[in-house]
Amino acid sequence: MKLKDKVAIITGAAGGIGQAGATLFAGEGAKVALVDVKEDGIEATAQRVRDEGGTAIAIKADISRAEDVRRAVETTVACLGRPTVLFNNAGINAEHRLPLFEIAEEDFDRTIAVNLRGAWLMMKYVVPQMIQAGGGSIINTASISAFIAASSAGYSASKGGVVAMTRVAAVELGRYNIRVNALCPGATVTPLAAEQRVEMQARGMPAALEMVDKMSVLGRLSDPMDQARMALFLASDDAAFATGAPFIIDGGWTSISGVTPKGKN
Ligand SMILES: NC(=O)c1ccc[n+]([C@@H]2O[C@H](COP(=O)([O-])OP(=O)(O)OC[C@H]3O[C@@H](n4cnc5c(N)ncnc54)[C@H](O)[C@@H]3O)[C@@H](O)[C@H]2O)c1
Repeated sequence: MKLKDKVAIITGAAGGIGQAGATLFAGEGAKVALVDVKEDGIEATAQRVRDEGGTAIAIKADISRAEDVRRAVETTVACLGRPTVLFNNAGINAEHRLPLFEIAEEDFDRTIAVNLRGAWLMMKYVVPQMIQAGGGSIINTASISAFIAASSAGYSASKGGVVAMTRVAAVELGRYNIRVNALCPGATVTPLAAEQRVEMQARGMPAALEMVDKMSVLGRLSDPMDQARMALFLASDDAAFATGAPFIIDGGWTSISGVTPKGKN
């Protein structure tokens, strides 16, 4: 077991990549604290973990609010012990895939508040616990949007910010035996992706939809478990020398140049 008896906090665990991470980490022996704004969703994920013989608690919290984050960390420590793994994964795109001049100010602000401020707040309150525990591993979910223009302005900026913040955190926390890495998914079939698909359909964007389906060279889009497996690797001692780095799991999407060799489609 790769995470035997470790305490792991997973944000955004009501669905998608976080939910896959919750079941995978628990299956590898971690006691998981599941954090999300969707109470029903995390209760359901926690129940699934327990049904499979694991240990899980569900904590309803909004990661963009310091009070919620502080309470979530305190509850984890009180119920499970000090966390040594943080899968900092909750994220939103409130910008409806609009061009930057059409994005509402509150939608830009909310996207940054959850994706960037929320990821920072989680680290701010978890890190002192990890230091006292003697070390740990933090996995911040960014996106390939940190590197290529694949989404809207505030979302992409938030994910670029997560990658930059990951480097700083790794440098600051290495002396405490805490590793910090960024998971950068490509197009992954989750509720968030489904929402964006519906929006694109409603706005009559068939070319964009067709493009999304081609965002991989492996003939399929990513399953949440593809991402959770990389998060598990980074959480575990298998990645003992990995820190400060972005890990792109995109089925080759960012390698596509638009020019294909002769004879290939
Ligand atoms: N699905 C993709 O194609 C894709 C690609 C690149 C990056 N990502 C990133 O992966 C992460 C997980 O996304 P997903 O696709 O699994 O989406 P998802 O919508 O299935 O899961 C995100 C979860 O975060 C929760 N959440 C949202 N705001 C929150 C808040 N303020 N506090 C606590 N929880 C909150 C949601 O309730 C949801 O359960 C996100 O950071 C997302 O930006 C996803």
